[in-house]
Amino acid sequence: MTGTIADVSFGGKSVELPTRSGTIGPDVIDIGTLYKNTGAFTYDPGFTSTASCESKITYIDGDEGVLLHRGYPIEQLAEHGDFLEVCYLLLYGELPTKTQKDDFDYRVTHHTMVHEQMSRFFTGFRRDAHPMAVMCGCVGALSAFYHDSTDITDPHQRMVASLRMIAKMPTIAAMAYKYHIGQPFVYPKNDLDYASNFLRMCFAVPCEDYVVNPVLARAMDRIFILHADHEQNASTSTVRLAGSSGANPFACIAAGIACLWGPAHGGANEAALNMLAEIGSVERIPEYVAKAKDKNDPFRLMGFGHRVYKNYDPRARIMQKTTHEVLGELGIKDDPMLEVAMELERIALTDEYFIEKKLYPNIDFYSGITLKALGFPTTMFTVLFALARTVGWIAQWNEMIEDPEQRIGRPRQLYIGEPKRDYLPVSKR
Ligand code: SDX
Repeated sequence: MTGTIADVSFGGKSVELPTRSGTIGPDVIDIGTLYKNTGAFTYDPGFTSTASCESKITYIDGDEGVLLHRGYPIEQLAEHGDFLEVCYLLLYGELPTKTQKDDFDYRVTHHTMVHEQMSRFFTGFRRDAHPMAVMCGCVGALSAFYHDSTDITDPHQRMVASLRMIAKMPTIAAMAYKYHIGQPFVYPKNDLDYASNFLRMCFAVPCEDYVVNPVLARAMDRIFILHADHEQNASTSTVRLAGSSGANPFACIAAGIACLWGPAHGGANEAALNMLAEIGSVERIPEYVAKAKDKNDPFRLMGFGHRVYKNYDPRARIMQKTTHEVLGELGIKDDPMLEVAMELERIALTDEYFIEKKLYPNIDFYSGITLKALGFPTTMFTVLFALARTVGWIAQWNEMIEDPEQRIGRPRQLYIGEPKRDYLPVSKR
């Protein structure tokens, strides 16, 4: 919906820019004609004030700590739904009927195997390769196997590719983990639900049956829900930008995985647990809080702060509750890292620096403790984030392809380099 006009005057010129209002949230000023009419670009390097698209998928209110997926609060989806139901919601826009859910679960379940040749890819990596490096390589390679679902102009092929990605990510993630620890790959089993199948592919061994603990499987499923989508974050924007050139969906998701790996983004869950381990005890917390506040020290509290949330990340609250459930089910009492995490949170939430800068725990603060208790090494934490976020990337990618306003993304710049100058022969330099 377009609305009032924003008047912009610059360099003796003025231009009227249309505005738009969404269903909820901030209005936008459409600056598409700004350069043509004023000769100036906007400048917003971290995109802190820039909306890159219209979207119906996820809404975040950072000040209120609200996260909605297609209008449904994350708290309700995490409490009452399962991950594949949230996948259906993100992809199709509505919660599925029983028939739709059963059909979707069946289709995903029957796409969980990967081409047998895929297993050859893993043997090319060193065993100690970081599983995220393996994920980048293997997911990008999927486009070498599934040519029949790479025509992005064909809605049917887009949906087949979408289902394949959602279905195969747990299998590839589990293979990356098994290769990393030198154990044989475990094939998916169609009589297990999504999270149980993944846990079994990670932790079963040929020598004995693996019995899935339903409490841990439910916790894993809920962790997937919490990581499913999050508006136009860095990795989602990467997937959209890659997709805007017409690249195939497997290549776009591989680009998203690469971006997610950074410690400022999805890599924060691994970094947060490493940070808690380095702090080691409650007594050392003040030393690290001081480092985090020191402008001259690059150290930051991993798992704290967020570009959008200037309140508590609603996912962090649910994750903290899940942490206690998992530790309780496993009989882990007095986990030293949980003790450090809770005391660090208490101190940070009462410290003037963190209050003034509105730094709260984000989803990555507690997830590491939970994933470690579930049996995963820290190197697998961001892989699990990527597994869950695949549905968000795919839903946003489909929305971008179907958006008539979307064109290839091609930002401009403020040039601060040398003005034109002539070549000097080496004898004159
Ligand atoms: C995710 O975008 C998403 O939605 C991401 C995500 C998703 O689901 O996709 O939610 C997942 O990536 C969560 C964030 C995980 N990252 C971390 O936990 C890493 C630690 N956090 C920071 O690096 C930082 O808070 C960011 C990257 C998350 C946000 O950075 P911004 O928005 O660019 O904020 P900033 O760096 O400008 O910080 C504002 C101020 C700065 O101080 P001043 O320069 O104003 O004096 O707050 C300070 C920062 O120094 N600050 C921190 C801090 N985070 C910000 N100080 C100490 N510890 C921190 N963690």
